[in-house]
Amino acid sequence: MEKLTNRRLYFDYNATSPLSPAVKRWLSEAEFLCANPSAIHLSGKKAAAVLREDSEKILKVFGLSESHKVFFHSGASEGINTIVKGMSHSLDLKGEKLNFFYSSIDHAAVLELKPFLDFYGHNAHQCSVDKDGHLDLNFLESKVKSCLPGTVLINLTYVHNEIGTVFPLEKLIKLKSETGAFIHVDCVQSPGKVHDWDCLPSGIEFYTFSSHKFGALKGIGFTFVNKTSPTFQPLINGGGQQLGFRSGTINTMGIRSTLLALGDLKERYDYSEAKAGINFLRERIREKLEGCGQIIADNSRYKNTNTIFFTVEGKDSNSLLMAFDLAGMDVGVGSACSSGISKPNNVLLNLGHTKEEALSGLRLSFEHELTTSKAALYWGKIEAVLDKVLLSSKSI
Ligand SMILES: Cc1ncc(COP(=O)(O)O)c(C=O)c1O
Repeated sequence: MEKLTNRRLYFDYNATSPLSPAVKRWLSEAEFLCANPSAIHLSGKKAAAVLREDSEKILKVFGLSESHKVFFHSGASEGINTIVKGMSHSLDLKGEKLNFFYSSIDHAAVLELKPFLDFYGHNAHQCSVDKDGHLDLNFLESKVKSCLPGTVLINLTYVHNEIGTVFPLEKLIKLKSETGAFIHVDCVQSPGKVHDWDCLPSGIEFYTFSSHKFGALKGIGFTFVNKTSPTFQPLINGGGQQLGFRSGTINTMGIRSTLLALGDLKERYDYSEAKAGINFLRERIREKLEGCGQIIADNSRYKNTNTIFFTVEGKDSNSLLMAFDLAGMDVGVGSACSSGISKPNNVLLNLGHTKEEALSGLRLSFEHELTTSKAALYWGKIEAVLDKVLLSSKSI
């Protein structure tokens, strides 16, 4: 995607993405099934059949139709809350407590569960990461082994939303076999951003996604649940839809848009092209910032194909964002707050960066179909802003 309708360049795909071409076509051309798939009249039965087919196809995209079931929700914040709170509730009913392990740089939807778990007497264990955002898995393993079997749930973020680092999924299998822990993988940022985004190990319990991150409608997400997973109480009670995993009238249009957007991704995401494009930009930004800033987690072996997070010495995130904004580019800052006053970025602090560095983070996140020629075009615009910003830093 080169331009939004207002001729701006959009570099904030990790926040949300525009609708994919297939979804736009469908919205403008389709005849929609309006019936509630839980209704027992003919139209309801038709909607239920379409829903079953779409669900099966979505499982198939990720190679999980044999091993997993799927339930749909409003997005990953709800999905993550459902699994963690639901498992803690189920263990409570058995007179046991959950041991929840997560990383200090996980998304707020994970981090903010700690007060809830603490309140109900469960154990939330926050694990630190190194400067490249990687967990010490040996340390995690030894901690997990000291917990009562059957009470451990580990959250892993597959692709990091701010710094773009990737958790190598092949390590999941070892972690699982060494510890026997249940594992939830936050896959929100993986579709169309890593090589094997649609190839997930079948032995893992839970995978959660938000469809608006890859071109579907907003307000829809989904979680894959292994057929052998432990039970979890639903977060939302009501009519018992979706095998009781999540009550509420099912968002059939959101689900169809998910399937269409996944189809587009499969067709259009070219890992090698996107990697070449992001490397082109990374190299130029690295050169430009030499001596006056840095790309975060630049030395990580595992990086995605759309994200560059960097800091500029002496510049706060909001003023960097404004400089890009005035030049017609939408970019992201993790620590933006409604008052407009920058706060130190929590992820940067937890990676061991200084407060000054943590005040100056800026994220560029590009479309799935990035190529070197698009990257070259973008670099012309990005470089002009960085030149201005760096000139003003020097003249202070
Ligand atoms: C890694 C990660 N997990 C979870 C979420 C929450 O997703 P949503 O806001 O769609 O509920 C996000 C959203 O940015 C994310 O990037």
